[in-house]
Amino acid sequence: MTNWAFVTGGAGDIGSAICQTLARDGFGIVCVDLNEERAEAVCSGIRMEGGQAVSFRVDATDPASVSAAATEAMKLGNITALVNTVGRAKGTSIFTMDYAIWREDIAANLDSAFLCIQAFRDQLIAQQGSIVSIATVNGLGVFGFPGYSAGKAALIHLTKSLAVELGPHGVRVNAVAPGTVRTRAWNARLEANPGVFDELQALCPLPRISSPANVADAVAFLVSEKASMITGQTIAVDGGLSAGIPAAGRAVTQLSHRS
Ligand SMILES: NC(=O)c1ccc[n+]([C@@H]2O[C@H](COP(=O)([O-])OP(=O)(O)OC[C@H]3O[C@@H](n4cnc5c(N)ncnc54)[C@H](O)[C@@H]3O)[C@@H](O)[C@H]2O)c1
Repeated sequence: MTNWAFVTGGAGDIGSAICQTLARDGFGIVCVDLNEERAEAVCSGIRMEGGQAVSFRVDATDPASVSAAATEAMKLGNITALVNTVGRAKGTSIFTMDYAIWREDIAANLDSAFLCIQAFRDQLIAQQGSIVSIATVNGLGVFGFPGYSAGKAALIHLTKSLAVELGPHGVRVNAVAPGTVRTRAWNARLEANPGVFDELQALCPLPRISSPANVADAVAFLVSEKASMITGQTIAVDGGLSAGIPAAGRAVTQLSHRS
């Protein structure tokens, strides 16, 4: 019997890597996204590799849309994994954000996960499944985008709250917090400053930019049996950025990195 994973934002760069990785691990994939065409392209790639995958157009911030997709998805078979990948950052500063932008940031990064968790709660309990939400280092420390960061910080707290509440029902709830990942979400900033990745990787203990596959591997681990005793955790996939910034350590100690 196939175990199915419901992946929101599955047409995006990180979401599609999650779909592909979980499919290779044997999951059937329900890839849902606002972008129906790209979601279907992800699924057809998986099917060409011999996997099972179905796409739906879903607005993860709309209760009716999530509920309709969940009903259809549960007809396919047992949903044992829910991966909340939908998210985006809009408001850049308190000086330019209005309430509408704030609401959009909170809806995309927090409400979407809440709605999907509610829709699959009973199914995940029945299947003793697990939930992974894609957070960000902005939910752990301050790296810009105040509304996005507040939404993701709340998502990390929701992860802990629900791990405690759902653990006794046999459901694990975790999050992955990426640092900078090379995706199309960076296109506008790359265009404005072609050196943006060089600047950001210089801040990291591992001076590299993550790939979507790096994030997908952490998700695959968390939904697997290998993580069967892990719940309520947020794994940072950030090259060590949330641990500290090498230049800050050097400034404090006044030692060069080789001494
Ligand atoms: N790229 C990074 O550097 C980075 C870093 C940390 C965290 N993240 C997080 O990773 C996740 C994926 O980011 P990405 O870089 O792959 O972005 P992306 O823009 O490539 O993917 C996001 C996907 O979500 C879909 N989407 C947006 N709103 C939706 C909605 N309401 N309903 C359904 N689908 C919706 C978009 O159509 C898109 O396909 C996000 O939660 C993001 O916050 C990304």
